[in-house]
Amino acid sequence: MPSDSVPRLLDDVTLELSSVVANNAMNRGRGLAGVNSYARELGFDPYERLVDRVRGDSRAAVTWIDVCCGSGRALLEAEARFAQEFPKAEVTLIGIDLVDFFLARPRTPRLWLITASATTWTPDRPADLVTCVHGLHYIGDKLAAVSAMAGWIAPGGLFAADFDPDEILTADGAPAGTVVIDALRASGMTYDRRKRHLRGQGPRSPRFPATYLGADDTAGPGYTGQPSVRSYYAW
Ligand SMILES: C[S@@+](CC[C@H](N)C(=O)[O-])C[C@H]1O[C@@H](n2cnc3c(N)ncnc32)[C@H](O)[C@@H]1O
Repeated sequence: MPSDSVPRLLDDVTLELSSVVANNAMNRGRGLAGVNSYARELGFDPYERLVDRVRGDSRAAVTWIDVCCGSGRALLEAEARFAQEFPKAEVTLIGIDLVDFFLARPRTPRLWLITASATTWTPDRPADLVTCVHGLHYIGDKLAAVSAMAGWIAPGGLFAADFDPDEILTADGAPAGTVVIDALRASGMTYDRRKRHLRGQGPRSPRFPATYLGADDTAGPGYTGQPSVRSYYAW
């Protein structure tokens, strides 16, 4: 994109009011497993991963934080399964979404569905699993969000997100994806270009030599086919 066509960039407050970021057309209702599910998008079932931790140490306190959780369907399903299958397990399930439109209210103290922006919310404990399923596409400062979420992981835990490096641009509108992927890999994280899967084991601290400039919500669909947010940085 030539520099004379760089769009007017939005700050977080304006971006979070955009119809691209909060709308009814996006898929906000994935369950744990099945056709429209976290297991399908992530390549693993988050519930099974948590169960592995519980089975490995029955006294362990296990936490899953799902950022941009949408309707919270996957978390609600996990809550129901833990109540039935591991009623004594010390499990905390936390969902964060900008939009207060959850499928149901939590039925047990295990589950927290929190209306907040992922750009400002911080957890009060390290997590065994942090997921962000098709959420980063709508966040302005994606690199700060990735750094924050990767840092929330407990030793032995996993950060798993969908990430499109093509949504990161330099101040003049040039693609910055390659340098972003290099910085992620330098921090020990992995990125699968075909699946667009970003992963980090244990706490990770990716550093990007970049200053966030703002977001563009007018660039059209990303790889999911839904309109997404492009994020601009000075490198
Ligand atoms: C495509 S949906 C995915 C929802 C869920 N992860 C799923 O797969 O069913 C993206 C979600 O990101 C949420 N979102 C967008 N910007 C956000 C922000 N800054 N903080 C928290 N949630 C945000 C939207 O409200 C929406 O629910």
